[in-house]
Amino acid sequence: MLLFLAACAHEPDPAAGADKYDLFCSSCHGADGTAGVQVDGIAATDLSTVVPTLSDNTLTTVIQDGYLKMPKQDLDDDETADVIAYLRETFGG
Ligand code: HEC
Repeated sequence: MLLFLAACAHEPDPAAGADKYDLFCSSCHGADGTAGVQVDGIAATDLSTVVPTLSDNTLTTVIQDGYLKMPKQDLDDDETADVIAYLRETFGG
């Protein structure tokens, strides 16, 4: 049972998430989440205000499927969980 859990359960890692954030998110949202770079005239949402209002499930969908003008990001479930751990640590919620 312990082996099963160790093999399957991914402990979200905010430090790994920070690296993924730098690679996959900061170009539009900025290092501090507030850059608001535009995509087709729509500014990337200020993550410092929106992240606390969104559930983990919603964040997962936004990252993996995209959201309106935001293109989906090529992160698997573990990487997405790491990014969300980083977002929670940085912006709360
Ligand atoms: C190519 C630019 C771009 C990249 C890269 C990008 N985003 Fe976005 N993001 C946007 C834009 C633009 C919006 C606003 C979309 C709209 O309202 O049409 C947005 C919106 C969001 C929202 C708000 C969703 C909501 O329900 O209001 C969240 C959360 C978010 N992005 C997180 C992320 C995270 C986390 C990453 C990295 C894994 C990321 N974004 C990468 C451009 C980007």
